[in-house]
Amino acid sequence: MISFENKSLKMNRNIKKAAFLGMGRMGKALSDAFIKEGIYTKNEVVGTHHNAVIANEISQSLGFEIITSNSEAIEISEMIYLCIRPQQIPGIIDELKSKISSEKILVSIAVGVPLKWLRNKLKNCGPIFHVHPSSLVMAKSPGVSYITCEEQISQEIKNEVENIWKALGDTYFVEEKTMDFCAVFSGTSSAFFSRLAIIWEKLAVKYAFSEEMAHKIVIYIFNGFYHAYKETNLNFEEIEDKIATPGGVTRAGLKKLDEEGFEEALENVVIRSLERIEEIRSIFKE
Ligand SMILES: NC(=O)c1ccc[n+]([C@@H]2O[C@H](COP(=O)([O-])OP(=O)(O)OC[C@H]3O[C@@H](n4cnc5c(N)ncnc54)[C@H](OP(=O)(O)O)[C@@H]3O)[C@@H](O)[C@H]2O)c1
Repeated sequence: MISFENKSLKMNRNIKKAAFLGMGRMGKALSDAFIKEGIYTKNEVVGTHHNAVIANEISQSLGFEIITSNSEAIEISEMIYLCIRPQQIPGIIDELKSKISSEKILVSIAVGVPLKWLRNKLKNCGPIFHVHPSSLVMAKSPGVSYITCEEQISQEIKNEVENIWKALGDTYFVEEKTMDFCAVFSGTSSAFFSRLAIIWEKLAVKYAFSEEMAHKIVIYIFNGFYHAYKETNLNFEEIEDKIATPGGVTRAGLKKLDEEGFEEALENVVIRSLERIEEIRSIFKE
C-alpha cells in the first residue's frame, strides 16, 4: 500500500502552483473563484485548453497563463485539478502519466471516474482526491463541495485539500460510493431547478407577460423563496402550509401536482442521472 504520511509536512507550505486541466465551464469557474478567494494568486495558477485560440481567449479574460500542454502544466504544478469531461480522461491519461509524480496531489472533479482507476493508471502519482464542487461556483455562489479520497492519505493532506475547498463554501468528506448521489443531489440539481424556472417563465409568457417581465418575475419568485426559508425558522412543509390556504387556489394546484406524479417524476430524474453516471463509469472498468 502506498503511504503519503511523510509527505504532508513537506507539501504543507510548498503547494502553490496549481494546474487546472481543461479550462471549460468548471475549470474557468473554479480557478477564478480560488483566485478571488485568495487561495492562489494569478501567478500561482496555470490552466490548459487543447485549442490554442481558445486558450489565448481564456487567458485574456481571466488574466493568467493558459497553455495547450497538460504535461507541461503538470510539470510546473504541485496541485493538479482534473477538470475535463470524464469521457475525455482516457485520451489524456498517457500525457498525465508522463509528468505525474509522488510530489503532486491530483484532484479530479470528473463525475463517475473511480479513484481506483486513476490510481491504476497513475501509479506514481501522489494523493488522489475526487471532489464534487458546487455547480453554482460559476455564479460565485457559496455552495457545498463533497470530497472523497484514497484511504491511505494522511489527515494533514486531507485538511490541506479541504481548507482550499472551504473557500468556496461548506465541505463534506463522504465515502466514494456516495459521490454519485452527491453529484446528482446538489450538483446537477441546479440545472433541474433551472429547468423549473424556464418552464415557469414559458408559462408566464404563454398566459400574460413579455419575456423580459416573465424573467424578472421568476427571479423575484426564486429570490423570495430563498429569503423565506433563510429568514424564518419554518421548515419546508410549514412554509408550504402558510402559502396554501385550505380549500384555496394553491392547495388545488398542489393536489394537481401530486396527481400528476411530480414526486415520482423527480425521483425518476435522480434514478436516470445515477444510471447515466454508471454508463459513464463503464469506460473506467479496466
Ligand atoms: N458542469 C458542472 O456543473 C460540474 C459540476 C461538478 C463536476 N463537474 C465535472 O467537471 C468536469 C468538467 O465539466 P464542465 O462542465 O466544465 O465541462 P466542459 O465545459 O466541457 O470543460 C472541459 C473542457 O476541457 C477541454 N478539453 C478537452 N480535452 C482537453 C485536453 N486534452 N486538454 C485540455 N483541455 C481539454 C474541453 O474542450 P472541448 O469542449 O473542445 O472538448 C472543455 O473546454 C467534468 O468531468 C464534470 O463531470 C461538472
